[in-house]
Amino acid sequence: MPVDLKNDQPLAWDSATLDPDTKAMLDNLQANILRAHVREHLSVLFVRFNNAREGRRFLRGLARRVKSARKHLAEVRDFNLSGKRGTPYVGVGMSKAGYRDLGHSAEEVQKFTDVVFHDGMKQRVAVVNDPPADQWEHAYQRDIHAVILIGDARPEPVARLRREIIAELPRSARVLGEETGRGMHNAAGEGIEHFGYVDGRSQPLFLKDEVDKEPKEHWDPFLPLENILLQDPLAPNPVAHHGSYFVFRKLEQDVRAFQQIERDLADELGLVGADRERAGAMLFGRFRDGTPLTDKPLPAGGPVSNDFSFDADPGSKCPFSSHIRKSNPRSFGREVLMVRRGQTYGVRTDDPTDDSPPENRPSTGVGLLFMSFNGELSKQFEFTQEKWANAPDFQVPGTGHDPVIGQGERDIKVTFPKVWGQPELSSPIPQVAQTITMKGGEYFFMPSLAYLRGL
Ligand code: HEM
Repeated sequence: MPVDLKNDQPLAWDSATLDPDTKAMLDNLQANILRAHVREHLSVLFVRFNNAREGRRFLRGLARRVKSARKHLAEVRDFNLSGKRGTPYVGVGMSKAGYRDLGHSAEEVQKFTDVVFHDGMKQRVAVVNDPPADQWEHAYQRDIHAVILIGDARPEPVARLRREIIAELPRSARVLGEETGRGMHNAAGEGIEHFGYVDGRSQPLFLKDEVDKEPKEHWDPFLPLENILLQDPLAPNPVAHHGSYFVFRKLEQDVRAFQQIERDLADELGLVGADRERAGAMLFGRFRDGTPLTDKPLPAGGPVSNDFSFDADPGSKCPFSSHIRKSNPRSFGREVLMVRRGQTYGVRTDDPTDDSPPENRPSTGVGLLFMSFNGELSKQFEFTQEKWANAPDFQVPGTGHDPVIGQGERDIKVTFPKVWGQPELSSPIPQVAQTITMKGGEYFFMPSLAYLRGL
């Protein structure tokens, strides 16, 4: 029986009664899609093949290193039981140009039905208000054929695999560009992004063991597999071989400007003492430590909650414009949610968790390698960026852009609640400036292992 991607029950992947097609799906699906793979140290290679036969041979060989979802899930289970360390992650994605130049016919490539994938990221700048492609970093201006991700908890296995994989590339191929990701943490050990906020907490979950662990009084993180999986149209047996559309975007963060904005906003609103933390929290929708602003007026410490909704908050606690309320309104739009698998990049000489002033913070050279898996790019990643983050009137007219990731003209004035949970609003003030710059990226498809082996 084909795998039911619409199944409304989380996947009990370890069950003895798992049907053969679902087993085949997990054996052929790449890791890091259904469940996040550790990637504290991450190397991302962007490759171009100049000879179709040699490129195919390379990818066929690379398949032996690409970890399957089932192997990854078993490794996580074993690590939780016995502390046994898992193996490094290797994943591979192909762009539309990659499929075409590796010799797939136009008819074959047409089997991918996502128009955004067919266009590629350069053709979509006007839709999502990205900078023109000729302003992107050089590597991303080229026609990238494949992306290779190598990740692990420790640097050595990543460095070794990177060397080996580059050595295996045919002489006709080129590494057009490379990114290095490195996890950052706060004192509580939670992963943070460069502005200093806990990131990666709210994710759609698909697996029974992960869903069971979450309290679900206000928010159920379970989503059907179709949110991120689709049949791999070029695999030998698409009903059992699946893949996912993969978004890669290099987003530079001007940390100095953002932290100045947090201070200016706190001054503007007359916030004093611990309440000053609320300025930044109103931009994100969570405090730095991850506490949801709709739940608490101050950071709370302890485990980072994800069991909340905005139903009882008319915007007097968490503004409608805040990053998490824009990108997941929670009371609707579940089908838009994608899984995020990003990693921070860039070396800091300051300590991102201390309270030193903005002038000690970097303004270039650091940011987020934004990565996400999608079932359909136009309805998930692009929809979020275009129709929610970049749309000043989404949910409430005049609420403004997403202050973290919104792109485009920001010429309107906006208001903020003066006191947490009280209706009184500040006088209108100009929207905060854009502090994130897209430096380049591409849309890829992460094919099934069966496809790669059959090349
Ligand atoms: C959540 C930061 C880019 C979509 C979050 C959170 C932070 C954050 C701190 C809250 C933690 C969590 O709930 O996991 C950033 C930064 C970005 C960035 C610094 C850029 C440098 C993006 C982009 C998108 C996006 C480009 C999509 C267009 C989301 C979504 C959530 C989220 C869907 C989860 C919301 C929820 O379910 O409550 N981000 N983000 N983010 N972000 Fe971003």
